[in-house]
Amino acid sequence: MSSEDLTRDMKRTVGIEAAHMVGPGDVVGLGTGSTAEFMIEELGRRVREEQLDIVGIPTSFDASVLARGNGIPPGTLDDVDRVDIAIDGADEVDPAMNLIKGRGAAHLREKIVDGMAERFIVIVDESKLVERLGTKSPVPLEVLPMAVRPVMRTVEAMGGDPVLRMAVHKDGPVITDQGNMVVDARFDGIDDPGGLERALNNVPGILENGLFVGLATEVLVGRISGEGRIEVERRT
Ligand code: A5P
Repeated sequence: MSSEDLTRDMKRTVGIEAAHMVGPGDVVGLGTGSTAEFMIEELGRRVREEQLDIVGIPTSFDASVLARGNGIPPGTLDDVDRVDIAIDGADEVDPAMNLIKGRGAAHLREKIVDGMAERFIVIVDESKLVERLGTKSPVPLEVLPMAVRPVMRTVEAMGGDPVLRMAVHKDGPVITDQGNMVVDARFDGIDDPGGLERALNNVPGILENGLFVGLATEVLVGRISGEGRIEVERRT
């Protein structure tokens, strides 16, 4: 099996396991990304085949389309007064369960929904584990378009290396679900994730950053066992 297939299987395994942590009547935050997609598919199967009664709160346009396609009743934060459980992927997870998110540019809505959840379950394959945040991934910043240049200068002054994220199948920059742009700020190892999260959000023009500090309540890690089987490690 190729390493890509193994990674996909690890993502599928944690996605399915997390979908089984949802109970009847739950308001569920539906994460964004390739791992969360497996969770949404399994949750949809449970809704259809087990008559599981839930409301899904999507964290992006993409999650919203997936939820509808899989038969999960969609809701908005105007419809509910709580989120019981949110399930979402991550780009990096440190030993304190702090995260970097936003490879898919959905981190603004993700932080709103995941952050208000009673239980926030993070689902990752083992490649996402790091000793220190920022060693592999940049910190994505959602930035108001008119503020991109000043934000990039400020990030540089803070010791970061900012790059405006460009689209792949469109000319020009990535535009978020809210109509903003994304600056990826590389910091090469972050000593104080909470301090950096607050400092970045204090820069005028930055609407949210991808550091998720102190929000996750549980992490499910897909791993390859010694015998080559996929197993799930639970961290709390
Ligand atoms: C979306 O913007 C991101 O926060 C994703 O949740 C994160 O990048 C994980 O994505 P994958 O599950 O596709 O690795």
